Amino acid sequence: MSAAALVLAAGEGTRMRSALPKVAHTILGVPMVRYAIDAARDAGCDRIVVVTGYGAETVETLIPGETCVRQEQQLGTGHAVMCAQSLLGDVEGPLVVLSGDTPLLRPATIQRLIEAREGSGAAAVVLTATLEDPTGYGRIVREDDGGLGQIVEQKDLAPEQHAIREVNTGTYCFDARALFAHLHALGNHNAQGEYYLTDVIGVLRKEGHTVVDVETDDPLETLGVNTRVQLAEATRVLQRRINREHMLAGVTMTDPELVWVGPEVRLGRDVVLEPMTFLLGRTEVHEGCLIGPDTRIVDSTVEAGSVVDSSIVLSSSLGPETTIGPRAYVRPGTVVRARGKVGASVEVKNSVIGEGSKVPHLSYIGDAEVGKDVNIGAGTITCNYDGRHKHKTVIGDGAFIGSDTMLVAPVSIGAYAVTGAGSAIAEDVPDEALGIERTQQLNVTGWTHRRAVDEPEDE
Ligand code: UD1
Ligand code: CA
Repeated sequence: MSAAALVLAAGEGTRMRSALPKVAHTILGVPMVRYAIDAARDAGCDRIVVVTGYGAETVETLIPGETCVRQEQQLGTGHAVMCAQSLLGDVEGPLVVLSGDTPLLRPATIQRLIEAREGSGAAAVVLTATLEDPTGYGRIVREDDGGLGQIVEQKDLAPEQHAIREVNTGTYCFDARALFAHLHALGNHNAQGEYYLTDVIGVLRKEGHTVVDVETDDPLETLGVNTRVQLAEATRVLQRRINREHMLAGVTMTDPELVWVGPEVRLGRDVVLEPMTFLLGRTEVHEGCLIGPDTRIVDSTVEAGSVVDSSIVLSSSLGPETTIGPRAYVRPGTVVRARGKVGASVEVKNSVIGEGSKVPHLSYIGDAEVGKDVNIGAGTITCNYDGRHKHKTVIGDGAFIGSDTMLVAPVSIGAYAVTGAGSAIAEDVPDEALGIERTQQLNVTGWTHRRAVDEPEDE
């Protein structure tokens, strides 16, 4: 069933006390506003409009490709919907309205609202929740017949209404034509001087329309994020929800409270995630990998059977059975092919480490192309930057780079070539040759004895 959706994301979010617009704050690496958009799309909404306003440029760059409409002055949620009328005024079926600050809402719940509207022919369906602590939410005020009469905002509550624990979640499915026909009737005579979308419920009722409510079966999903405390709460709920799904699908987490996996991450069977592991962005970890402890992987692919220990991996691709860390820093654009190793305290950037090749200790490899079965000795550095430009290092298959080699790029080391330990290699080394650059060693015989005989001077 097709539906349109409107995501309200123009508010400043003063209670966040932030320079950043509220919906730009991230949860598990994803800006809050994207959760509402993704939920609408996953629920089958094929036409989605986002209302932006406060910090609109910032918010819009976080949601490339989405249709946005500006609400220049934030005069309330009802006013935000009015601003979208130019784009959605022609919708004839259901129009779902969501808040950009309700990131835990599930697609199945949106579908329930769409179905409830279709089944009842109502002009509006309101998603409600019953909360232990309803503070801050608009309350559901019922008529004598039990029907939804009106929604009263926290700041407009009469004293006896404070005890109402049934709240408006800010999630609705409207009959688009009925909604847009009655929006203009909203006033702003309330405690906040705003045009409240919630008032349209009373208006629709008065005009003889049917309004129904659907209660969520999971009050946690309707958590509205208004403060940083609620941001942390939402993060915890989402973390638990995501981790639970992965564990049920065959992922081991030694301590799931200490593992953070973003909503777009894909994990294979028998992956083991150790504590303090962060997997974010479009990361994929394939079957049987051991990740962590103390590891952050963002926008990267880790193929089957790899081990990443106490390391950072950003926008890179690790082939099957690779070994990373401890304390490796794998920066964007790195490709480690099958059985490659990036070892202890090694930094790699924008480089290919060929099949079976190893960089085991304390090296910096940048802008390099390393062939197959290469061994790079401890302390090797590609001197890829001359202060102005970056240059490339090419190392052929089977080469052996001696410890503490400085590879002064641009430079290329031939296949099966060797470099002498401690050499600064600034000229190409041909295939199968030894490149060595070292001043001759001088041995002074009897040195120890001479030192012992010379008395040190008084200071
Ligand atoms: C709103 C509801 C309240 C409900 C709660 C659920 C209204 C009047 N109140 O209150 O009944 O219990 O959500 O979380 O609707 N926004 C705009 N333009 C504006 C104002 C707000 O786009 O002019 C957006 C905000 O960015 C936010 C959403 O609308 O994403 C809700 O606004 P917010 O100020 O957080 O409303 P609440 O006080 O939480
Ligand atoms: Ca809110």
